Amino acid sequence: AVQRATTRLRWRPEQTGTGAHADRTAREIDEQADHAAELVRTWVPSVRSGRVWDQLALPVPERVRFLACGSSRHAAEVGARVLRRLAGTPCEVTVASEHDPADQVPGELTVAVSQSGETADVLRALDALPGPLLAVTNSPTSSLARRADAVFDLGVGPELGVAATKTFTAQVLAGVFLALSSAVARGRLPRSSTAELLDELSATPEALHRAGRLALHRADELAERLAPQPGFLFVARGAALPYAAEGALKLEELTYRWAQCHPAGEFKHGPLALVEPGTPVVVVEDGAAALDTIVHEVSARGADVLRVGWGEGCAFGVLDRPEPHAWGPLESIAALQHLARTLAARLGRDVDRPRNLAKSVTVV
Ligand code: F6R
Repeated sequence: AVQRATTRLRWRPEQTGTGAHADRTAREIDEQADHAAELVRTWVPSVRSGRVWDQLALPVPERVRFLACGSSRHAAEVGARVLRRLAGTPCEVTVASEHDPADQVPGELTVAVSQSGETADVLRALDALPGPLLAVTNSPTSSLARRADAVFDLGVGPELGVAATKTFTAQVLAGVFLALSSAVARGRLPRSSTAELLDELSATPEALHRAGRLALHRADELAERLAPQPGFLFVARGAALPYAAEGALKLEELTYRWAQCHPAGEFKHGPLALVEPGTPVVVVEDGAAALDTIVHEVSARGADVLRVGWGEGCAFGVLDRPEPHAWGPLESIAALQHLARTLAARLGRDVDRPRNLAKSVTVV
């Protein structure tokens, strides 16, 4: 079973300000809100009735193992968290290159998340699976898709920048659709909560648009300020962590500057030693969930704190609400991607083709 969103590209440079001659990566960051809208339109009705798994011709899974690498792994972390929290489904996320068949559990569903569907580490991990395989991919004719029992086609069109941007967002949404559909099908959500969650989910494309516009407005000025910095720290908690990790990865691959991401509570166990006057610390907030302690700790040591979140004093005030969503602050990724891309351009990097990296990693 192959299920796809029918996507029309509707990138509007005049709305977003990245200009017709911007690099592909900038355009793909901008496009992602439109793709999110298409995905929401296509899938939310099936999520509401708990029938996403039916559409994929798979039973609602009792247990799930996500397999993925890089950005796709960060996206998988979001879906896994929602699946555990709202559907009560036991699941794990395995770095594909670290996959050990001895860890597999009989009957578990493997969900391989790979935009290219050609990542060798993912394909290699598919030998002797203990149950069915679902591919979440942007390439329904890929090796992964051909191997799978069912395919969730992201359908966001070719992604030409080496850095994953719009495919990351689409993968996050796919994982959330699968997780919420499980929760509905397993009777874990009262009807009123389902309606509320789906309203929130349906608002994410607009939130991504808004966050992208806001980020563009501030990115040049911040890139100027941050250009001399050799390294960056990213911090978050809970549902915001995968986005912070993805922001750090994007910054490293596009700017060639070091970027580490740690859970807030881990800072005092080591990374705090890295903070010196001027060190940029990007704080990815989840609604108004307090990260005051870490902000206080790093500020006291002279860090340049950049809050991505809600309320006063944010570098990017991308959240329009103090309450967190089950899937965390998805819209923050638009700001983190723009920050990385703008800083890379300011540093004269080849934004679409970062050194040493390939779009499909076909070697193990
Ligand atoms: C980062 C990036 C990589 C990929 C990773 C997996 O921007 O693009 O980390 O996410 O190589 O690729 P796919 O999703 O094709 O399996």
